[in-house]
Amino acid sequence: MRKKIIAANWKMHMTQSESEAFITTFLREIGDLDEIEIVILPPFTAIPKVTELLTQTQNIKVGAQNMHWERSGAFTGEISPPMLRDLFVRYVVLGHSERRAMFCETDEIVNRKVRAAYEQNLRPILCVGETLAERERGEVEKVLSTQLRGSLANVEARELLETVVAYEPVWAIGTGKTATADQAQEAHAFVRQLLREISDDATAEKVRIQYGGSVKPENARQLLSQPDIDGALVGGASLDPRSFAQIVQAGVPND
Ligand code: 13P
Repeated sequence: MRKKIIAANWKMHMTQSESEAFITTFLREIGDLDEIEIVILPPFTAIPKVTELLTQTQNIKVGAQNMHWERSGAFTGEISPPMLRDLFVRYVVLGHSERRAMFCETDEIVNRKVRAAYEQNLRPILCVGETLAERERGEVEKVLSTQLRGSLANVEARELLETVVAYEPVWAIGTGKTATADQAQEAHAFVRQLLREISDDATAEKVRIQYGGSVKPENARQLLSQPDIDGALVGGASLDPRSFAQIVQAGVPND
């Protein structure tokens, strides 16, 4: 049984004081819910504040949205894996489509970052997903296979167990166009099949696969009830503590 994991990707939003207001309201909304693992992904500058506010909670973790793969060096403007560990960060988003498209991140770069994460005991949230043009050309499986195999090259099964994969179709990000539950489930089942091929059946069964792309309180329950959808990576709707809390609550199993 995979514990669902629902993450708030704040992207380039939220000052320290806005983060504080968010966390205060969110904790009140969420109560003592512990069936779901929750991850908050603030911008680097708000990580210490968010971590401090969450010290009393067990199931809410803090993550970063990116990092460099080297431990230190002349990389102006970059943040290293040990620097994130120093801030008690547990998860790190790698290969987000915005970084792939706007900051030229290739699968090779993402792979370096993924392996650097394991070295520092950081858990990658590895993002993969096709563009609209790729979907229309019937290339969804090809794209997912290339991205997943490239990003996870030379990764061992025990490392894969520490990894969360996020399927985020690029055409659904920030557009209000969510993949239907069937479209998402089909892609997730394919990702799990790829994970079997990359590692083994038992490992692939344990890896959690999140869906991302216009997840909202209104569509979360249907998406999260699919057999291979083990969580959500939420952008826009995670900036409002009440709507993010509703999305988290939608992931709680009914029985
Ligand atoms: P939206 O929820 O705003 O579509 O963003 C999804 C995303 O990119 C999360 O990483």
